[in-house]
Amino acid sequence: MTYRSVTMRRHFSYAFILVLATWTILACSGERKKIVAVSQCSMDEWRNQMNEEMRREAFFHTDLDVEIHSTPDNTQQQIADIESFIERHVDAIVVAPNEWKPLRPVIEKAYDAGIPVVLVDRKINSDKYTAFVGGDNIDVGRKAAHYIRDLLPNGGRIIEIEGLASSTSSQERKQGFHQVIDSFPDIRIVGHGVANWQRQRAIEVMDSIGERLTDTPVDIVFAYNDRMAIGARQSLEKNIKAGRIHLSSFPLFIGVDALLDDTIGVGRVEDGTLEASFLYQTGGDKAIHTAACILNGLPYQREQVFETSLVNRGNVHLMRIQASHIKDQDDKIEFLNNRLDEFFKQYSAQRIVLITFIVIAILLMAVLGLLYRFYMMKHRMNAKLQHKNELLQRQRDELEAERDKLIEAQMTTDEKKQIDVEIHQSEERMERGEGLLPHDQKFMDKFNAILLQHMSNSELTVDMLGAEMNLSRVQLYRRVKALSGHSPNELLRMARLSRGKQLLQAGHHNISEAAYAVGFSSPSYFAKCYKDFYGENPTETLKK
Ligand code: FRU
Repeated sequence: MTYRSVTMRRHFSYAFILVLATWTILACSGERKKIVAVSQCSMDEWRNQMNEEMRREAFFHTDLDVEIHSTPDNTQQQIADIESFIERHVDAIVVAPNEWKPLRPVIEKAYDAGIPVVLVDRKINSDKYTAFVGGDNIDVGRKAAHYIRDLLPNGGRIIEIEGLASSTSSQERKQGFHQVIDSFPDIRIVGHGVANWQRQRAIEVMDSIGERLTDTPVDIVFAYNDRMAIGARQSLEKNIKAGRIHLSSFPLFIGVDALLDDTIGVGRVEDGTLEASFLYQTGGDKAIHTAACILNGLPYQREQVFETSLVNRGNVHLMRIQASHIKDQDDKIEFLNNRLDEFFKQYSAQRIVLITFIVIAILLMAVLGLLYRFYMMKHRMNAKLQHKNELLQRQRDELEAERDKLIEAQMTTDEKKQIDVEIHQSEERMERGEGLLPHDQKFMDKFNAILLQHMSNSELTVDMLGAEMNLSRVQLYRRVKALSGHSPNELLRMARLSRGKQLLQAGHHNISEAAYAVGFSSPSYFAKCYKDFYGENPTETLKK
């Protein structure tokens, strides 16, 4: 491999590295998003609303990526999800623990691994969490009990349907409820069941309790959420219709959640399916906001506990009006977020195009720069070569002239005189218009033809010309000088310049081409000799 191709390859490698570095810097200039992994214990309307709020809130934190993983009340799956969050070392975990006991170890593990943990809705009975966001379940239970007391001032019979017994939300609602209800001995709990927060389970629970109700009528059914309260009512209606149960009066149903929804929650309070519900806020937005504050080192509340409030026939209409207003606002926010998302996508696409353009431009500039460098290198090398050629040719000319001088110096005075006489005679013949003697003319014609034939060879020497004419250098010198008054060397130079002039005048050759064609290995030297001989530059001849 030549030196030139090695340097060329090295230059291209530099350019490639430069382009790669630019691309990497530009491409990585978008900051990495922090991952907030959410582990949701259930899949129902209440959870859907919470997830929606989380997604909406995430729009306001462009540095966050909120990933929601939901399980259908499956503790083992939730444990596996959180294990994988720890393995991936996500930036923060938001978790609603299905059951506190089996989930506590894995949540503590995440906390110990330095991952901020935000508990939502349910707890783990441990101090190893960063923040809690959720409702006050004890207060929910208490308020429900007080409300029931208001409805049954003279005492009465109630049925209690719990949520998932191993979830803290159910345990706390139960605790609050019994703190109050147990203090009224005239209110008796005549039926009790655990329905794991699910409507279907509540139907089954109520089916099994229902049989006993014909003899012991009941005033109120309190379920720990609206879904179970609606299920319990469905069961009772179904059994009455089927004639399995006979009731003198139909009980009132009370639930919890008061979700702003038609099919469940406030819609069912408004249509009378439920007597009342207790607001249990979802707070998905607050959970993500808290995670964002933790990740950005901003102040946050460790315990964010939402108040509850009674929703019944007296205020449900107002609540619906406000809810529909809030819904409109939410829809608008959603719309704006989507628009923003579109703009952001467009911006990203344009950014990629821009980066690509920049990279191509840099690449082009690098290639152009390299080409320019190579061009300049070649130009410099050519100039050096020209200079060397000129020097060589000049030296060769000087050497030839020196050798001619040496020939003259070696001639005797008689020989010199003899040549001068011959020159003189030739000149006289010329003046008389007689021309050279025929054999002399023949000799000169042959010599001129040889000059023409070989002049393009820049290495041509007088010795070589002599050899062509079958004469020694000295013999050639004497004969040519005597007949023309010039040395062979001078005649060669004159022949070259005159042929050069012809070529230039013919207009098919530029100066370099003409110079090389007549045996000058350096165009600049040709120009110099030309000017000395004709008194004008070859460029002037060309112009003419
Ligand atoms: C939703 C839900 C709610 C209830 C809460 C308790 O999954 O069952 O209905 O209020 O969980 O944690």
